[in-house]
Amino acid sequence: MAFISFRDFMEKAVKDYYSSQRALKDFFTAPELDRAFGEALAEFFSQHLSEFERPALVELGAGRGLLAYDILNYYRANYPDLFNRLKYYIYEFSPYLISKQREVLKNFKNVEWVEELPKVEGIVFSNEFFDALPVHIVKGGKELYVDEKGSEVWLSLENEKVKEFLRRMNYENLNQIVEVCLDCIDMLKKISESLVEGYHFVIDYGYTSEEITKYPEGTVVAYKEHKVVKDFLKEAGNADITAHVNFSALMEYGRDFGLETILFQSQRDFLMHIPTFLNELEKLSWEESAESVERLSRLKTMLISMGDRFKVLLQRKLSQ
Ligand SMILES: C[S@@+](CC[C@H](N)C(=O)[O-])C[C@H]1O[C@@H](n2cnc3c(N)ncnc32)[C@H](O)[C@@H]1O
Repeated sequence: MAFISFRDFMEKAVKDYYSSQRALKDFFTAPELDRAFGEALAEFFSQHLSEFERPALVELGAGRGLLAYDILNYYRANYPDLFNRLKYYIYEFSPYLISKQREVLKNFKNVEWVEELPKVEGIVFSNEFFDALPVHIVKGGKELYVDEKGSEVWLSLENEKVKEFLRRMNYENLNQIVEVCLDCIDMLKKISESLVEGYHFVIDYGYTSEEITKYPEGTVVAYKEHKVVKDFLKEAGNADITAHVNFSALMEYGRDFGLETILFQSQRDFLMHIPTFLNELEKLSWEESAESVERLSRLKTMLISMGDRFKVLLQRKLSQ
């Protein structure tokens, strides 16, 4: 009987899911809730982009392209000089989603889709991208594999890079499931190499080493029709499989590639420090139309139910 590691199983399942017409039908992301999210990011990025003569934004995993649309639209209206100098790159692996993105962004001439991260001065950023990268699942010296029928098989942990990760993060003696995202580390390396100068910005749901014991069974779940599916091994390609992001690992390994953490906070604290977002909240709370009431409730979702679960990380590339 043939086995594959859970990491290989998840990589294929995620790719199949996002390349199918089901992609993004099973959950909502913040940019899909309201344009205020993209506008807040745009406002925050504008301070950093102004440092560069030829600034670039590189978005990893752009979904339907709504975040890109909101950011570019905001710059066109509010920062025309920056808009005219800005190049916007999208790194995306799903041909189906690329076709959606091209349609949504057809009126912007400064957008380019790339298969490799380009060399830029600016910001590489993502919202809910790292959680889609595949993880190794380990517990007590064993690693999870999956057989042809989608049943779990625990085999002795042999992967030296995974073992090294457990040592470096001080997770060796944890008596629980630990998820190890080596692909996240490879991605950090690529991001660092892409940044001639600039920043790496991530928003995602995740945890730190201090919080890992809150997840004794691990964090991997699948979403289907807006519900969590427990038996994710049987749902390959039909549901979105994700793992919470280990932010301590992004901070620790980022240093290897010259990425120094300069901000780490909850999505709520982050948004509550962006004047445009606060103004929008204030404005909507005085308006009485049904649309304004609905928008207000969507903005509150970003602060309340998503506000603590989602974290924001900003790293600066140190010149080497
Ligand atoms: C959860 S969606 C988030 C979409 C968007 N950022 C948003 O906030 O609405 C994940 C996105 O990352 C893309 N993606 C996942 N894994 C990827 C990979 N290894 N390489 C490139 N794109 C990937 C998916 O196709 C999808 O566009």
